[in-house]
Amino acid sequence: MVQAEKEAAMTLPDGWDSEELARAELLVDRMYAGADARIVACRAPGRVNLIGEHTDYSGLPVLPVAIDRSTIVVAAANTTGEMEVSNADPAWPSRRFAIERQIPPYATGDWANYVKAAIQGVIDRFSARANLRGASMIVDGRVPPASGLSSSSALTVSTAIAFMAVNQLELDPLAAATMVARSEWYVGTRGGGMDQAVSILGRRDHALFIEFDPLRVRAIKMPAKAALIVADSRQVADKSGAVRAEYNRRVVECALAARILGRALKLDGVKILGDVIRALPEWNAADLVGQLAASSPACLGADLKEAANILDVTQSEFDAELLGQGSIRSALDSNRPLEVLKRARHVLGETERVIRAADALEAGRLDEMGTLMNASHQSLADDFECSTERLDALVECARRGGALGARLTGAGFGGSIVALCDAASADSVIESIDRGYYAKQYPGAAPKSWRAVLHAGAGASVIDISANA
Ligand code: GLA
Repeated sequence: MVQAEKEAAMTLPDGWDSEELARAELLVDRMYAGADARIVACRAPGRVNLIGEHTDYSGLPVLPVAIDRSTIVVAAANTTGEMEVSNADPAWPSRRFAIERQIPPYATGDWANYVKAAIQGVIDRFSARANLRGASMIVDGRVPPASGLSSSSALTVSTAIAFMAVNQLELDPLAAATMVARSEWYVGTRGGGMDQAVSILGRRDHALFIEFDPLRVRAIKMPAKAALIVADSRQVADKSGAVRAEYNRRVVECALAARILGRALKLDGVKILGDVIRALPEWNAADLVGQLAASSPACLGADLKEAANILDVTQSEFDAELLGQGSIRSALDSNRPLEVLKRARHVLGETERVIRAADALEAGRLDEMGTLMNASHQSLADDFECSTERLDALVECARRGGALGARLTGAGFGGSIVALCDAASADSVIESIDRGYYAKQYPGAAPKSWRAVLHAGAGASVIDISANA
């Protein structure tokens, strides 16, 4: 059948287009599967976060969009009972591992740890169902890695969904997003649930206002007059290296702030800042920050002794709770104090901003949305200290080109920015970025693939591709 006939013959879920179907079919051709094996293909997109940065692991809201760059995983049950995983890109070596109750990770930085994370997550979730079938999988990732667009979650989500399909396991999308978010801790980053949630629940032409504990989602239509531009600073934000330590450090700083506030306000069981906010009938960032400043020094020692004193808990239990155990245990650089006050000021202020931004976007108030994005970037730079000179430069170029707002997106420390503008100004924003940033950083290079007008895309879905081959 020619491509158009094939597409017509099968009803494709939203998000699949002819290019993605062709990619999946190429993988099928390379796959050895028994004659009777059903072959599935799952696509899962990366994301760009519009606002609500470094709030998710405090259980506080975010406002991302799924992007039209995805990872595709083609999978079929095999007879070895093991996982046999290869990558369309030969830079990532093939891997094979046994399905066991606790899968031991590869060395830090190995790409297939994300595959293991996904499989481990499914094993943990369905532990009552023994005998999961092994699978052969081929991965084709097109979300640029280390650029803050969540290529890692696209891989984990597509792997988990494909593996569940091979084993005929089903979960509703909210439960699947919760499962995959937790499973990514396997790689040693104590992330929140934003990337996995939007990769699974994303909707074409919509941003998602996502809240946590429990996970829930409100889709907000992108106003037709708005354009989003994403631009990669090309400063590598590699989550398996130094960025991981910085990220985990901030998770601990935010959790400390939460516990100190919880104690000051006499609230029980507070572990994250979201617990504080959910326990209060009314709150505002300025009052909570004031309360925190009155209850604790702005910085605390990284050995956690002083913090344990303030909270009146034994140090060893406290230490295990905050830093984790086993493969998720984080190490803190003992020479640097923990910045409790600044981090909380960012997270609480950002929570006010993301709530206002969701309403502004829904009502088409783009100027207001842009102002909130600019304030978010400032707070990430000053209080969360996760911007870089290059990200700041890129943001400035976008604003100079007419963006209503621009900010780093994702964890920061490199990676990408997102800018919002009137659709009519998109060319001028891009031109300003090309001239003011890429031409200076990379003279003579063609920046075309480094920045783009972004279209909010659909979330992950799986198809039975053997029926189509
Ligand atoms: C990374 C994490 C997310 C989120 C962002 C910062 O992308 O994977 O969970 O914490 O950083 O907002």
